[in-house]
Amino acid sequence: MTDRTASLHFSDGAPSVTFPVLSGTLGPDVIDIRTLYSKTGKFTYDPGFMSTAACSSAITYIDGDKGELLYRGYPIEELAVRCDYMETCYLLLYGELPDPAQKEDFVSRVTTHTMVNEQMQFFMRGFRRDAHPMAVLTGLVGAMSAFYPDSINLNDAHQRDISAIRLIAKMPTLIAMAYKYSSGQPYMYPRNELSYAANFMRMMFATPCADYHVNDVLVRALDRIFILHADHEQNASTSTVRLCASSGTNPFAAIAAGVACLWGPAHGGANEAALNMLYDIQAHGGVAKIGDFITRAKDKNSNVRLMGFGHRVYKNYDPRAKLMRETCYEVLGELGLGDDPLFKLAMALEKIALEDEYFVQRKLYPNVDFYSGIVQKAIGIPVQLFTAIFALARTVGWIAQLNEMVSDPEYKIGRPRQLFTGAGRRSVKPIAER
Ligand code: SDX
Repeated sequence: MTDRTASLHFSDGAPSVTFPVLSGTLGPDVIDIRTLYSKTGKFTYDPGFMSTAACSSAITYIDGDKGELLYRGYPIEELAVRCDYMETCYLLLYGELPDPAQKEDFVSRVTTHTMVNEQMQFFMRGFRRDAHPMAVLTGLVGAMSAFYPDSINLNDAHQRDISAIRLIAKMPTLIAMAYKYSSGQPYMYPRNELSYAANFMRMMFATPCADYHVNDVLVRALDRIFILHADHEQNASTSTVRLCASSGTNPFAAIAAGVACLWGPAHGGANEAALNMLYDIQAHGGVAKIGDFITRAKDKNSNVRLMGFGHRVYKNYDPRAKLMRETCYEVLGELGLGDDPLFKLAMALEKIALEDEYFVQRKLYPNVDFYSGIVQKAIGIPVQLFTAIFALARTVGWIAQLNEMVSDPEYKIGRPRQLFTGAGRRSVKPIAER
């Protein structure tokens, strides 16, 4: 408990009210206003939740001013270099990094659940071949609740753990199937001797006609992309998963809701939008035209934004963007694409934007999506699949946050209120009199 308080005084003479001020281990204090409505008959008003902590959490901490990101206390810069995605999944789910035996067991559980029900391929056939992969993924993930009825009870920790392993294990398989379906190529089954990221690369790019040899540099880069995208506090899609799961629905349905929310260009869809933005600038004059594009991005009436720039929380450089830019150098170097014009254009755009008063004043820096598209394109991943890769990586974060909420004895269904600005009570007139 706390002895620190915050008081609310009303100019209309209504009695003042006092609330506890709570502190976490890191970051801003919160004013506990849970009794505000019962004490005052008033709500708080915070569209977009700019000043609202919707929950308490021990999973991920972000310091937007310092550009700091910690998963269970570990800096992303260390995890991205010293761990792989499977270790990161274990950390996010269970709170500690695994020892060798724990890692081996976890990887084995994931590996042996990578196949999907054969019926899933017939579900896929209901889509047009040119369906956006995020539309397909939203459908497939939601459909998993129909295929795995033995792990849909949200309030059963054992069933939640099984559904977590199934979701983490099967997302790569489903996304690779969506890609193969769009290209008319046969599906490739997962191989148990491959690592998580290598398995995904093979399911994506191998064909039954020839052996497939993974490129270890590209596999490591993809694994790092997964680590960087694994969780990110109470972002829009994570908040969607929490609110959806708060109704007691099943884990697959809640994660499908997260996939749907992530699709938006202001959120996970920004990596696809950022690469398309670079293509657009390149097609209209390249580096010479960056100034014109920046001018449009600053013009409120243009509806143009510098995709991959800006963040609700980071008012400093997104630490993931730095790591992603390093990965760009590694991958492009490995592939002999060091002079990749798109990468050079991105670096020129970043330099110009970071010197422009509009962006400096608003503390708009590159975010994780600015460079991730360039890396994924170099690896061979089609642009339309970028957000699906983001969803693949974020699945473990969504699950960890869902588990944390459901395990909190105080959790209840989320049900925000409103400031009503519509018509007052009025009577219906017969249509002849309207
Ligand atoms: C992700 O929340 C998370 O943690 C998300 C994420 C995660 O891991 O889950 O980090 C992943 O979603 C990263 C963000 C990806 N989105 C984009 O790159 C799309 C482009 N960025 C913007 O749409 C925007 O920056 C947001 C949505 C990311 C943040 O928007 P905010 O915090 O609501 O800020 P805002 O829209 O109120 O903008 C503040 C000002 C405005 O100008 P003024 O009204 O003050 O004059 O900055 C301007 C905006 O017009 N602005 C931009 C801009 N972003 C903000 N102007 C041009 N280009 C941009 N990219």
